[in-house]
Amino acid sequence: MARITHGIASSHVPAIGAAMDLGKAGEDYWQPVFAGYEWTRRWIRDAGKPDVVILVYNDHASAFDMNIIPTFAIGAGEKFAPCDEGWGPRPVPVVQGHPDLAWHLAQCLILDEFDMTIISALEVDHGLTVPLSLMFGKVDAWPCPVVPLAVNVVTYPPPSGNRCWALGEAMRRAVTSFPDNLNVQVWGTGGMSHQLQGPRAGLINAEWDNRFLDRLVGDADELRHIPHIEYLRETGSEGIEMVMWLIMRGALGKKTRCLHRHYHVPASNTAVGHIVLESVA
Ligand code: DHB
Ligand code: FE
Repeated sequence: MARITHGIASSHVPAIGAAMDLGKAGEDYWQPVFAGYEWTRRWIRDAGKPDVVILVYNDHASAFDMNIIPTFAIGAGEKFAPCDEGWGPRPVPVVQGHPDLAWHLAQCLILDEFDMTIISALEVDHGLTVPLSLMFGKVDAWPCPVVPLAVNVVTYPPPSGNRCWALGEAMRRAVTSFPDNLNVQVWGTGGMSHQLQGPRAGLINAEWDNRFLDRLVGDADELRHIPHIEYLRETGSEGIEMVMWLIMRGALGKKTRCLHRHYHVPASNTAVGHIVLESVA
């Protein structure tokens, strides 16, 4: 039987990927950003290596545009190549999928009344590849298959936090009914506070972000009820990416324990947050 034991959340700032690809991770500006991921890389190497990652991310008008806007989409292909976001595809490995688990998730979630879009051909952007680089480092091949789960947080209306949390809960039920003996991790990406455009560009709210990190731990589920307008006001227009962390949190069951936590400002325009949670349910 498959199981979800741990969840990881992390910002997915594209400049972090560029810093790694261009050999700048040791520079003064970047060193404190990457220092917060060293614990996680060691833990993954020594104890926490997943058999499969369900990677919750958002596409940034790379694979989807205004022609098609799936609210929740699941990548069911054999592989997913990094896409060209304007400077050529990142020099990172092609992501191997897990079609059997992806189709099982699609079946369970759709019959559980979540209307997932099923995608076979999908190129993935920084939303998915930067967290892989942060957690696994520079590698010739990613160490495990990945099921991409794309969420629309780019075009109004994104799904509510409550819907995202409930999707995570349904995902936990779905994984538990997959017959193979797999250690599955769910990763939530994006955030934390950031706004990339308009008069408030550059907005960071460290106090709000840290309260959000606090509340991911334990058994309270108040985060699921934060309305969109609060993300917008308090964390900037792109802070809404944090609803994807709630899918990860919902998938961990009633109660979580924090194994590691990191927060750093700035990285590009964004407050970088990262947390590793264990399910205690
Ligand atoms: C930045 C952050 C993001 O989450 C993103 O998707 C694009 C850019 C930034 O801080 O530059
Ligand atoms: Fe983003």
